[in-house]
Amino acid sequence: MSNFLEFASKRRSIRKFEDRDIPQEDIEYFISAAISAPSGCNSQCWRFVAIRDREIIHKIEEAVVRKTESILAVKSGELSNEYLSSRRKMSTFFVKAPVNIAVFMTAVKYVDPTLISAFKDCGYEDDAIMRMYGNYDLLSIGAAVQNMLLAVHEKGYGACWMNDPAIAGEEINKILGEPAENRFISLIPIGFPAYSPRDKKMKELSEVLSIK
Ligand SMILES: Cc1cc2nc3c(=O)[nH]c(=O)nc-3n(C[C@H](O)[C@H](O)[C@H](O)COP(=O)(O)O)c2cc1C
Repeated sequence: MSNFLEFASKRRSIRKFEDRDIPQEDIEYFISAAISAPSGCNSQCWRFVAIRDREIIHKIEEAVVRKTESILAVKSGELSNEYLSSRRKMSTFFVKAPVNIAVFMTAVKYVDPTLISAFKDCGYEDDAIMRMYGNYDLLSIGAAVQNMLLAVHEKGYGACWMNDPAIAGEEINKILGEPAENRFISLIPIGFPAYSPRDKKMKELSEVLSIK
């Protein structure tokens, strides 16, 4: 690999995996990369659970399917079997990965409690204050996940950043015994890629960059 751009642009989402395990030291390597990411106020507002246990991952699959079906039930009669089975496949392919990393966002402490207290005196709720600061807790999670994906790629594995399972987030907390205040954000299935993804359509640099 000649430079970082070439390396980073070769990372792709992988949704089918070979039936080969991942050693624990590699899992630790991925998480070490994740936790070296920047985070708002250096909050390091993350927690990771690496899931290898098949029974646990099947429970998560069931929770995701149950929640998806309960939402889609309002459209019963309107949806084809093809749609339903493809929806199910799209949101549960993680079950075949040898390792899944569940990513949780923990509570952040503000650096300046006086300013936050002033915001509250002005009637701002916690959610509105966080939004004003660009949801830096969630952005920090994104930075950690991207670091993890690049570490996975470097080691020759593939992964997919999945937020679909978050619809069953509360259930996933219970299955993993994670306290409710740690919010489930993403699931990252990781394994050896079982295929080569097709090229993806990219926006041109000129569409997304202006230099003034
Ligand atoms: C925040 C986020 C959530 C995502 N959630 C899902 C998901 O639930 N299921 C899925 O198959 N892919 C998911 N993806 C993967 C994207 O579909 C993928 O990154 C995009 O199509 C670009 O392809 P690439 O990763 O191969 O470059 C997610 C990506 C991001 C950044």
